[in-house]
Amino acid sequence: MNIYMRQAIRKSKDMSLQGKNIVLGITGGIAAYKTAHLVRLFVKKGANVKVILTQSATEFITPLTLSTLSKNEVYTSFSTTDARWNNHVELASWADFMIIAPATANTLAKMATGLCDNFLLATYLSANVPVFVAPAMDLDMYAHPTLSKNLSQIAEHGNHVIPATFGELASGLVGQGRMAEPENIVSFIENTFDNNLPMKGKRLLITAGPTYEAIDPVRFIGNFSTGKMGIALANEALQQGAIVDLVLGPSAEKNIHKNIRLHRVITADEMYEKVASLFENTDMAILSAAVADYKPKNPASEKIKKNDNELHLELVKNRDILASLGANKKHQLLIGFALETENELANAKSKLKRKNLDAIVLNSLKDKGAGFGTETNKVAFITHDAEVSFPLKDKNEVAKDILREISDRFYK
Ligand code: CTP
Repeated sequence: MNIYMRQAIRKSKDMSLQGKNIVLGITGGIAAYKTAHLVRLFVKKGANVKVILTQSATEFITPLTLSTLSKNEVYTSFSTTDARWNNHVELASWADFMIIAPATANTLAKMATGLCDNFLLATYLSANVPVFVAPAMDLDMYAHPTLSKNLSQIAEHGNHVIPATFGELASGLVGQGRMAEPENIVSFIENTFDNNLPMKGKRLLITAGPTYEAIDPVRFIGNFSTGKMGIALANEALQQGAIVDLVLGPSAEKNIHKNIRLHRVITADEMYEKVASLFENTDMAILSAAVADYKPKNPASEKIKKNDNELHLELVKNRDILASLGANKKHQLLIGFALETENELANAKSKLKRKNLDAIVLNSLKDKGAGFGTETNKVAFITHDAEVSFPLKDKNEVAKDILREISDRFYK
């Protein structure tokens, strides 16, 4: 995956075209008339489209058609009719990706060599995002050796070429050179994004939330965890293409994506059993749950009456889920959390080793806005040979940071 593709995926909210910002560049070929339909398809998918036309493209399709369909201004040159400058850099940085369709032999030759004599090419050269090109021309032009050389060069620069198809051409000849149909352009783009998602097809097991350990039928030992951090990780991993099993303790959080496989548990023992049954078929486990370390030895079967002035509870240790996975892991990547109040870094590093983990996420309760119940968190990501600290952020952003560290360090 090239760097532009990674940036675009990080920038985007999910793997569909919903909400994506698309710059569509149209050059001067007869297939330009099909771009009206292409704009409609993008808009129907919930994308925002801004169109650039080269001068010769305006002879094949009008700016008015495209501005009406895209509901956005259409760009045809470096300046507007009332002498304002069109900012190609701003437009390029607005885009999540760019598509040039149809791309003529002339424009492809300029793209291959870096020529920049119109607004479309200036935007292309400024675009640090994925760029797709859909060539269209007559069959002899498409078969010309300079064209295939230019297309290879363009692909080598990290762009995606959507091959022209075979069929009847404007010249009346039949051969290869027809622009891919708009529906196929859209699915080519969707497949490209989908296949390049950083967690594509990875099976991910996440624990989150507190556990409750019964004292009697109405009382329990628990903690203040809400499960927000683990749920944010699960939602984000899903958007990045993972297949997610979330083992969640008692949590009131509602914002759990419907495609997450949710396993609700109450006690540490239930969490242990569920996690153990899922671990073998997992590529990576992230254990963020705040598991109760102890449980009442003999929970009462009836409600305990307040007869005495003192009540003594005998507690026994719960099994350590993370440590048991660490002792049994094979191919799996194992990541734990450490919530510390003192000697944070040293304690986290010692847990990393002791529990045989690949990485540990440290949050310190000394940091304001970090830990249980808040919308924000401040974490450090620690492996056996590196550590990186992040500033206080929204938990959804923290989830992105953690998953980025994981894919950059373990899946590149
Ligand atoms: N954990 C677990 N099972 C337990 C206890 C903890 O899976 N019974 C996991 C947590 O989900 C977390 C990590 O272990 O990923 C660290 O939990 P933490 O409570 O910080 O550490 P402990 O191992 O319990 O050690 P201590 O309480 O002594 O700090």
